[in-house]
Amino acid sequence: MAAEKIPLLSPYKMGRFDLSHRVVLAPLTRQRSYNFIPQPHAILFYSQRTTKGGLLIAEAAAISETALGFKDTPGIWSKEQVDAWKPIVNAVHDKGGIFFCQLWHVGRVSNYSFQPNGQAPVSCTDKQLSPAVLSDGTIMEFSPPRRLRTDEITQIVNDFKSAARNAIKAGFDGVEIHSAYGYLIDQFMKDSSNDRTDAYGGSLENRCRFALDIVEAVVIEIGADRVGIRFSLFTADNECWDSNPEALGLHIVKSLNKWGLAYCHVVEPYTTDVEKRQQIRRIHLLMRAAFQGTFIVCGGYDREDGNKAILENHADLVAFGRLFLANPDLPRRFELNAPLNKYDKSTFYTSDPVVGYTDYPFLDSSS
Ligand SMILES: Cc1cc2nc3c(=O)[nH]c(=O)nc-3n(C[C@H](O)[C@H](O)[C@H](O)COP(=O)(O)O)c2cc1C
Repeated sequence: MAAEKIPLLSPYKMGRFDLSHRVVLAPLTRQRSYNFIPQPHAILFYSQRTTKGGLLIAEAAAISETALGFKDTPGIWSKEQVDAWKPIVNAVHDKGGIFFCQLWHVGRVSNYSFQPNGQAPVSCTDKQLSPAVLSDGTIMEFSPPRRLRTDEITQIVNDFKSAARNAIKAGFDGVEIHSAYGYLIDQFMKDSSNDRTDAYGGSLENRCRFALDIVEAVVIEIGADRVGIRFSLFTADNECWDSNPEALGLHIVKSLNKWGLAYCHVVEPYTTDVEKRQQIRRIHLLMRAAFQGTFIVCGGYDREDGNKAILENHADLVAFGRLFLANPDLPRRFELNAPLNKYDKSTFYTSDPVVGYTDYPFLDSSS
C-alpha cells in the first residue's frame, strides 16, 4: 500500500501544526535524567524518533521540586533544566519534528526522600498509598501525604504556569498537562482518592476544578493552541480510579471546549478482556464526539488497530509507547509493514545512557 493510503501515514492539521502523519511518540519516562537534569544522551533518543512533521511528546517533566517522585526524571522548573532541554528540542526541530513537553506533578506518589527538606508529599488527600513493587523488583514506599489547604492550590497552579513558560523558553512547541495515571491532577479528579469537602472535592464540577484551573492558567500563559491534556479515566494506577469514568470524562472534555486546546489525549488501560476494551472505546468515542478538537488515543495500539482507529474516525492521531520505544523508525516500519523490534521491559527505567535506550536498531541496520 502506498504511504498516503495507509491511514496512520496520512497528513493531519492539528491547529497551527501541519503533521505529515498520525503516529505520535507517547510520553515515556526513562529515568536517565541524572539528578533531575535532562542529559545529552536524550538528544539521540528523541532525534532517532523524529520525522519531518511528526508529533513527539516528551517524557513527563516535573514542574517543581515538590512534583518529584522518581529517581532521575527530568524537571522543567529551573534555568539549568531549561538550558539542558534546549539542545534536545533543537535536535527534534532540526529534523522537522513537533515537540510537546509533558508537565507532571506526582502528588502523593512520592516520599520524604524526594521532597524539599524531607517534607511530606502534597495531595488532595492525606490517604497514604500502599508500597508498590517497581519494575526492577524493588519496593517503593510512599510517605503519608499532606492534604493541600484550599489557599495553597493557587501555588501549584502557578507552578504549572511557570513550567509551561519554561517549556516554551526551552523551545518546545507546546505542553501536555499530565492528568493521567493517578498523579496529582488525577488524584483530584477521581473519587477513590479525592475526599475533600471544599470547592475542590465532592461533585464532578469540584473534582475537575483543579485540572481546569491549571488549563486556564497555562492557556493564558502560552496560548490554547499550544496546550494538550492527557487523561486515563479507566486506569487504577496509584490507587486512583473513578466510580463513573464516563460521567467524569464527558464532563471534563465538555468543560475544555471553551478554550480550544490543541488536543485531548486519552489512554486505554492494558487489558486482554475484549469486551472491557470495547466498552472503554465506546466511552472514548462519546468523549471524542463531545470534544471540539484533535483527539489522540493511546494504549495497546499496533499498526492494524491504529489504522482502523483513523479509518473509522475514532481518533485523529494515535500515540505509541512501547512500540516506539523499541522502534525508532516506527512510522517507516508501518509504511513498509516491516517486522518490529521487541521491547525489553528490563531496560525501561535503567540508567544506562545507551543500552535499552538508543541502541534499538533501525530497519536498515537490522535487516
Ligand atoms: C517506559 C514507559 C514510560 C512511560 N512514561 C510515561 C510518562 O512519562 N507519562 C505518561 O503519561 N505515560 C507514560 N507511560 C505510558 C505511555 O505513554 C503509554 O500510555 C502506555 O505505554 C500505553 O501505550 P502503549 O501500549 O503504546 O505502550 C510510560 C510507559 C512506559 C512503557
